[in-house]
Amino acid sequence: MSDSEIKKNYKKKINELIKHNKLYYIDSSPKITDRKYDELKKELLDLEKKHTFLKNNLSPSRTLGHKPSKSFIKSKHRVKMLSLANAFDAKDLENFEKKIFNFLNKKIEIEYSVEPKIDGISASLTYKNGLLVMGTSRGDGTTGEVITENLKTINDIPQKITNIDFPKDIDIRGEVFIEKDDFKKLKNDFANPRNAASGSLRQKNPLETKKIPLNFVAYTYGYFESNKIKKQSDFLMSLKKWGFKINEHNKVLKTIKDLEIFHKKFENDRFDLKYDVDGLVYKINNLDLQNRLGFTANSPRWAIAHKFSADSAYSIIKDINIQVGRTGALTPVARIKPVNIGGVVVSNATLHNEDEIIRKDIRLGDTVKVERAGDVIPHVVLVDLKKRKKESKKFVFPKKCPCGFDTIKEFNRVTKKYDAVRRCPDRGFECEKIAVEKIKHFISKEALNIDGLGKKVVENFWNLKLIRYPQDIFNLEYAKISKLEGWGDLSVSNLKYSIDQSKKVSLDRFIYSIGIRHIGIENAKLLAEHTKSITNFLNLIKNKKFNEFLNIDGIGETQINSLKKFFENKSNYKIIEKLSFMLNITDLKLNKDGKFLNNTFMFTGKLSNMSRAEAKSFIEENSGSVVSSVNKKLKYLIIGDKPTNRKVQKAKELGIKILSQKEWLNLLN
Ligand code: IVH
Repeated sequence: MSDSEIKKNYKKKINELIKHNKLYYIDSSPKITDRKYDELKKELLDLEKKHTFLKNNLSPSRTLGHKPSKSFIKSKHRVKMLSLANAFDAKDLENFEKKIFNFLNKKIEIEYSVEPKIDGISASLTYKNGLLVMGTSRGDGTTGEVITENLKTINDIPQKITNIDFPKDIDIRGEVFIEKDDFKKLKNDFANPRNAASGSLRQKNPLETKKIPLNFVAYTYGYFESNKIKKQSDFLMSLKKWGFKINEHNKVLKTIKDLEIFHKKFENDRFDLKYDVDGLVYKINNLDLQNRLGFTANSPRWAIAHKFSADSAYSIIKDINIQVGRTGALTPVARIKPVNIGGVVVSNATLHNEDEIIRKDIRLGDTVKVERAGDVIPHVVLVDLKKRKKESKKFVFPKKCPCGFDTIKEFNRVTKKYDAVRRCPDRGFECEKIAVEKIKHFISKEALNIDGLGKKVVENFWNLKLIRYPQDIFNLEYAKISKLEGWGDLSVSNLKYSIDQSKKVSLDRFIYSIGIRHIGIENAKLLAEHTKSITNFLNLIKNKKFNEFLNIDGIGETQINSLKKFFENKSNYKIIEKLSFMLNITDLKLNKDGKFLNNTFMFTGKLSNMSRAEAKSFIEENSGSVVSSVNKKLKYLIIGDKPTNRKVQKAKELGIKILSQKEWLNLLN
């Protein structure tokens, strides 16, 4: 069979599988036996193994055969299920601690609860009055899929807890995983133990879940009614007492040095464990301190995952392509001869940027060592120079963007160095490569979150010229789309529904969705909190009052310059304005039942017990707000070390309450 015939045959089988998935999972009326279905899956997996060029996002090797999430009932987590930031070395750990000290405004001795990071999938179990009433998957972190019945098939999960001190209402969270030996029996169906656990847990029929021996260890909580426990290590002990399995290798350690020593030892010992561990999790042991530190957009400030070194393999660079990102960064990507690294076939590896290629002298045809760790993108670590051919030539990094514009290397005024990254200067939507990436960002989870309009669909619509700008999403020609390959009436109506739903968006998400460089989700929130409504935001931009943003704690020159640059391009402003007419951009909802409701605060001078960021988050949690100038509306001026006298003087003149740091702490209680 020729390659194209093999591809055709493969595609036919994929379509068959899609049809049967729908019959089984959505219509609940399978037309073939389970055995025939398994055979079809196996044929596809065998084909992929034999012909590495076969790839399809809907292949069972990628979708794990699990049920499309739409058919599970969803439930909003009472407390978000976030992920963890990663550390790879001591420097990352030092930075983690440094950020904590900055947040607290002082150095303290930290005690850590150290826990192995089992490579499975997380689940949340809600117990009310001792009964397991609901179990959910993590989903997108905000909303999970209700998989109670499947979770109930796991022996490690207690369904009734009678201990007197078991909280009346609590979400217990932990990891569902499969042991290495059990995975061996399923090797043909799944790429790795993690996929096996995930595939099994999300089966429509709990009896299918029961067939695969799943385990559960508990390690944290979500919602917890009247929590009296003071330490994570005590919480783990309580879990054990209540009948949950916890990891037997948990321990409490103090310094980064001790964490490193334990990490080094555990990294070698982990191979003797019955399950896969991809790192260690370090959590601040003191739960009050955890509360105080809180979360950033994606992860807690009080925990970090220290990963083990990556799996690696050697391969050959067949080509180097340049990818252009949303902010114009040119990223070189090596297309390598497909190679299996730790259970996953890898055919692309990032080369990061131009400087990295020069530094490592990476060339076409080179034999290179490629590493991958967890979800991190595979990257080239080194070149095997002994294998380099004599005729090989240095790689010349293109000076033009694939869109045709000349590229630039920016000079960083702070570091006094040229950027390692070469960029296509962002000319709004004129660079086609940037434009399509901007649209992908616009629809992404943390932005407009348009379910059903994934990155691949955006690319497809872009190629078909159905979209050129974000606003085109709201004027799609659905009749045309329903005639495209892979689309039908049902999928088009689902798409239309999720696009319509996305029209209602909060101001912070909207600002983030615009995709301005240096304005991530956190900065977008700060801008939204400051401007309060889209009208105010647009007015400030229109009147070029960018410097007003300098009053915002957390927004600096880099962000202001980026905003200026973005809006210098008139077409960018027009797009945002158009979107503001088409969308229902809601003002930021403020917490309306705290003790500081309608109270405004201002700080001058350095606070000694906490950072400004923490003070601000306290005030906002209690429905108050922080302002940046002294005027009649100000309620409290809090004076730290070395205050600005002018501000204090003005506050006195206006009769505003002036608080010392001690009085401020008393007010906070
Ligand atoms: S705590 C807010 N503890 O790692 C963070 N997570 O990247 C809550 N994981 O989604 C997670 N072992 O699936 C925590 N001892 C442990 C863990 C653990 C494994 C997984 C979990 C989570 C992911 C975070």
